[in-house]
Amino acid sequence: MKKINALDRQRTIYLDGAAGIRPALPVDFARLEQEARDKMHPEAWAYIAGGAGRETAMAANAAGFDRWRIVPRMLRNVEQRDTTTDLFGKSMPAPFFLAPIGVLQMAHSQADLAVARAAARFGIPYVFSNQASVPMETCAAAMEDASRFFQLYWSRSDELVVSFLQRAKACGCSGIVVTLDTTMLGWRTRDLDLASLPFLKGMGVAQYTSDPVFRRIMDQTDSSPKTKTKITWSAIQTLLAATRNFPGSFLANLRSGAGLRAVRTFISIYSRPNITWSDLPFLRKHTDLPIILKGILHPDDARKALDYGVDGIYISNHGGRQVDGAIGTIEALPGIAEVVRGKVPLLIDSGFRSGADVFKALALGANAVGIGRPYCYALALNGQAGVEELLANWMADFELTMGLAGCKNLEEVHNSELTQVS
Ligand code: FNR
Ligand code: LAC
Repeated sequence: MKKINALDRQRTIYLDGAAGIRPALPVDFARLEQEARDKMHPEAWAYIAGGAGRETAMAANAAGFDRWRIVPRMLRNVEQRDTTTDLFGKSMPAPFFLAPIGVLQMAHSQADLAVARAAARFGIPYVFSNQASVPMETCAAAMEDASRFFQLYWSRSDELVVSFLQRAKACGCSGIVVTLDTTMLGWRTRDLDLASLPFLKGMGVAQYTSDPVFRRIMDQTDSSPKTKTKITWSAIQTLLAATRNFPGSFLANLRSGAGLRAVRTFISIYSRPNITWSDLPFLRKHTDLPIILKGILHPDDARKALDYGVDGIYISNHGGRQVDGAIGTIEALPGIAEVVRGKVPLLIDSGFRSGADVFKALALGANAVGIGRPYCYALALNGQAGVEELLANWMADFELTMGLAGCKNLEEVHNSELTQVS
């Protein structure tokens, strides 16, 4: 595993600069975002960058950080800086991990596999998405014993849920992240305006098409469409894409209609909007892995989660992709941290863009932060190498912010006081 030291990282960049070499990946987030936008297909950009409705929950995520300020402390000897921590029994070099992101093939052809390799290089935990473009087993095999989790969407088929849980266990995941906020997709204005949904092209369904239970359900599915699709050039392209994205030979898939059948089966089985708290014991019964609930935004839901005996709480508004107008996660954090009080690990994501953002979340009571869109942009720009560069930059940025704020380790970050801007 490769270790990053902030001063070495900084020195390398400046020394390269003296030789006329600029960083391959923009360090500044706004530039990273802009370059990724220039490179990506408009449909990929809309899907990844977009949020729900007027995207005010995305704005709330960003604004949340600006309401808190770090108050650096001086003369505290920060020569030795320790940013390590652990999560569910695995150590990690910095208090962040890679959040689950579906359909990464829209960003880069190597998709999840490139991300898994980059994460493993540094020992940064990676949460495999339920909507991945590469099966979890393939990613896990590339990660040796590096830390990984599986994110579950609660399917309409209990049997499929159990199969996903078993596969996650078999491929060495340290926990199950159950995402609760996406029982239906939000009203995603950018995607709607382009009338673009990647799943219809068979993208982001690799966990399903590699699953024996799903394949059996799929083979029992009626292949004739329920709604009529106009036969246009685009419709043919969609069919061809679904066929190409299905594992195995293109011609055999075209003949059997497997690609389209997989898409139809996925649409009908994807999620169960009627899940309630009383369904949680079902998960407990079928896995002994830690269960982490993702999408918690209300202190009462955090309380309930603890009552149900979950092993971790993950504050998220899904990067503002689900409920337009939703509370920003940094805004939600203090109230939830008050309830959790260190009883279980408290994770958070949505809108984190820098080391300072991570510092603030830790000071407000979080244990670890999920990186989302920034790593998609790094992936889009430069594949595995791009994600590695992004992670090295995040580690260096966090370590310097921590040290310069007068903290030697995460304990001191947790105990440091922020000031609130009214
Ligand atoms: C997501 N997110 C997500 N979450 C999840 O539990 N399963 C998933 O498959 C996905 N897929 C997904 C795709 C894309 C393109 C995005 C941008 C996000 C949500 C993700 O885990 C995380 O909560 C957000 O990305 C955090 O917000 P920021 O930091 O990306 O703004
Ligand atoms: C999304 C789903 C896949 O946010 O989580 O697009």
